[in-house]
Amino acid sequence: MATYPRIVVSPPGPVARSFLEKDEQSLSPSYERYYPLVVESAQDCIVRDVDGNEYIDFNAGAACMNVGHNHPKIVSAIKNQCDRFLHYSNAGFYYKEVIQLAEKLAEITPGTFEKKTYFGNSGTEAIEAAVKLAKWHTRKQLLLGFVGAFHGLTVGALSITASKPVQRRHFLPLMPGVVHVPFPYCYRCPFKLGHPECHCWCVDFIEEFVLQKYVSAEDLAAIVFEPIQGEGGCVLPPPEYFPRLKRLADKFGLLLIDDEVQSGVGRTGKWFAIEHWGVEPDIICCAKALASGLPLGATVAKANIMDWTAGSHASTFGGNPLSCSAAIAVIDVIKEEKILENAKKQGDHLLKRLSALGEECELIGDVRGKGLMVGVELIEDKESKKPASRKATDIMTRSWKRGVALVTCGASTLQMSPPLTINRETLDVALEIVEDVITEVSRET
Ligand SMILES: Cc1ncc(COP(=O)(O)O)c(C=O)c1O
Repeated sequence: MATYPRIVVSPPGPVARSFLEKDEQSLSPSYERYYPLVVESAQDCIVRDVDGNEYIDFNAGAACMNVGHNHPKIVSAIKNQCDRFLHYSNAGFYYKEVIQLAEKLAEITPGTFEKKTYFGNSGTEAIEAAVKLAKWHTRKQLLLGFVGAFHGLTVGALSITASKPVQRRHFLPLMPGVVHVPFPYCYRCPFKLGHPECHCWCVDFIEEFVLQKYVSAEDLAAIVFEPIQGEGGCVLPPPEYFPRLKRLADKFGLLLIDDEVQSGVGRTGKWFAIEHWGVEPDIICCAKALASGLPLGATVAKANIMDWTAGSHASTFGGNPLSCSAAIAVIDVIKEEKILENAKKQGDHLLKRLSALGEECELIGDVRGKGLMVGVELIEDKESKKPASRKATDIMTRSWKRGVALVTCGASTLQMSPPLTINRETLDVALEIVEDVITEVSRET
């Protein structure tokens, strides 16, 4: 008999409300909160709010808690590190934790070639480093990015981000030299074609239009992509897409920068999502789940590409010992507890159940994903496929009020990304609630 979720007071309760007022007075209004969940504590797949409500976490703290909240081995690794030393900048000195983590990352990232790693503090910083490295190594200035992409919000990363206009508004001009091309979003093909008859025209388009009419491949340093666009709506390219993109990159000598900030560290049932397409990128960026909630970004590159000189890039806290100790423990726990296998198993079940609901529910347009990175795109009706944005927000909020903390992404997609440790029983309890809410909202007009 499941004991979760447990709603003891309709959220947001009185304690949460008292914090919301203070938050509004003292925090930057630029944060875009999904709903007023004020967290008190969390353990594995359960999050408890300040009023004592307990939710099944279908958001995993913004896809960061892949091994579950407060995994005892991670907490113990952090505590042990605390007892030894908290900081001694890797930018100017040495300590073993960064070295050990870099070695482990070289093992788990695709490709058996030699690799080197740069450490920063976030996903955005991992992208910034990748972009600067690609420019340094190639001595070229231009980048190819994708419409719908999210790579972060600092000026360099934001120049490649093309997810929501609000993120760029009033900040232009950004870093020059980024050319955005359509992403293979087959459910809403930007070229209004159908897969597989299209033969991935979106790849040929880059060669036949962008490279022939707009930018010279000789000036292009790299293609920056997410294997699965997360913020953009859990958008999944078809099987031949990345092998085709890799052939194009090889033909024109372009580097492939793979942003695995959200899809990496086991989220999709493989260490890195690009492995589903069998492609080995030149540079991989990861962050979020890497240190299980502590700030850490890693830019892992082929050793011959990471050839910049001392002084060309660094950051005081990048690769701090607490985060590195946590990340080493994360990688060990994923291996020891067979978490990749669980992500695949539970993810297949999640996809199957929601796809079955999609067959009979007018509100569900598309169900897609890999492992425990699954999106349910909601539409007004199957003919117009108009994004049902308001209904998606409504389902998200009602699910939360009933004890499942999930969020939306893209225009109208429900994002299902629980910790990868979730078991079948907890997953099914959460799914009952979410399916119930979807059905309820679809019956209301
Ligand atoms: C794919 C991707 N890249 C980069 C980022 C930026 O990471 P951070 O928020 O850690 O700076 C995110 C954050 O959501 C992301 O999803």
